[in-house]
Amino acid sequence: MKQQRENFGSRAAVIMAMAGSAIGLGNIWRFPYILGEYGGAAFILLYIAASLLVALPIFFAESVIGRRSHSNAYGALRKLAPGTKWHWAGILTIISPLLILSYYSVVGGWSVQYLFKSLSFDFTTGSPEAVSSYFGNFISSAWQPVISHTIFLSLVAVIVLFGVRKGIEKFSNIAMPVLLVLIVALIVYSLTLPGSFKGVTYLIKPDFSKLNADAAAAALGQAFFSLSLGVGTILTYASYVKKDENLIVSGLGTAGFDLLFAVMAGFAVIPAVFAAGIEPGAGPGLVFETLPFIFNQMASQAPVVSSVVSIVFFVAILAAALTSAISMLEVGVAFLTEEKGMKRAPATLLLAFFTWLVGILCSLSFGPMKDFHILGLTFFDFVDHLCSDWLMPIGGLVFTLFVGWKMKKADVRDELTNGGTCNRMIYKVFYYLIRYVAPVGIVAVFLTNLFL
Ligand code: TRP
Repeated sequence: MKQQRENFGSRAAVIMAMAGSAIGLGNIWRFPYILGEYGGAAFILLYIAASLLVALPIFFAESVIGRRSHSNAYGALRKLAPGTKWHWAGILTIISPLLILSYYSVVGGWSVQYLFKSLSFDFTTGSPEAVSSYFGNFISSAWQPVISHTIFLSLVAVIVLFGVRKGIEKFSNIAMPVLLVLIVALIVYSLTLPGSFKGVTYLIKPDFSKLNADAAAAALGQAFFSLSLGVGTILTYASYVKKDENLIVSGLGTAGFDLLFAVMAGFAVIPAVFAAGIEPGAGPGLVFETLPFIFNQMASQAPVVSSVVSIVFFVAILAAALTSAISMLEVGVAFLTEEKGMKRAPATLLLAFFTWLVGILCSLSFGPMKDFHILGLTFFDFVDHLCSDWLMPIGGLVFTLFVGWKMKKADVRDELTNGGTCNRMIYKVFYYLIRYVAPVGIVAVFLTNLFL
């Protein structure tokens, strides 16, 4: 007999889980430094435009496919377009989230290690030299980061093992409110530091001179990554959404929270960076290099406060990373359990094991394997670029074309308006965006990345 399919218990649970997937390292680790690179507030405007015109339409396309079919990414395309080749694209979306997870888990592992370091007060009691050089030494060592990656991925697997209701929904319901409280606390702290005001000006004052094609591509890439698009994550989560839920409300809610958390992370990090007298052009090292240095500096005046703040900060990053990582693993688990008849436990362990192996290579590429290059990139960067530049845009394109051109318009309308009972105007706008604007936007950015 076919097993009863699980679903999310309430609208709040849907938004919490989807926002949990969306809000992650992309918001706390990536957004603040990209914001710095591309002109602060001006970039936010561009980001909102990219979200509304391209990212949200993809989000809705995935939502429609998922909820209409109540299936995993592969099964969904097969069910909705039987006898065609569309479901081959579904296979792609089983593999891509696992690839993303393999390097995401490495960075997730760093946050595990940094939490341990904070808990043992290493950042606040160590010498400034030791703290400054820690990141480079840590990621280039062989074993430590692999162990951290293993711990992180094990946590992810355990949550996914518990299933949709008892694992994903329950964990997101706890982690997301906690994350909100922690970030607000960090903002308050950051803004009370002397000299932090320069950071606020930096974030608020728009610098339109930095807005060019590059910035637009970065905005879209960030929106794509941040909303977990193009690899069937949102599709899979939407397949657990009940028929009477409002997909447009969940989508707008998720995107709204996602942006809010990204901006809040900016306000938690950047003012503290300015207060420490550092330029925020620090790039990817911002969170793992600059912040520990700041915690160390502040410890000379307020050791207890700065120790607590460092713990809070890395708990927050870890919570955010976990709720995203579980969404990546769930895509493949849904596929194996529904299409291959596997039980949840072996399916989860099998995929976690595969991800673990690829992740080890990603992790080693900062150390023992740093001279191993594919197309001129380290293994970590190669997987990252493969996913961000190719797999995610291709997936996004497939989903928008499927919903915009392959599915019956009446079916799409039925999903987005719940049988014509709500969102009728918004639906019209988004149908147009899904059909024309989003595919063109994706292709444009894809070509820009390829040739510029
Ligand atoms: N959105 C998450 C973040 O910002 C990462 C993430 C989760 C993701 N699932 C995804 C990225 C699927 C791409 C595709 O950290």
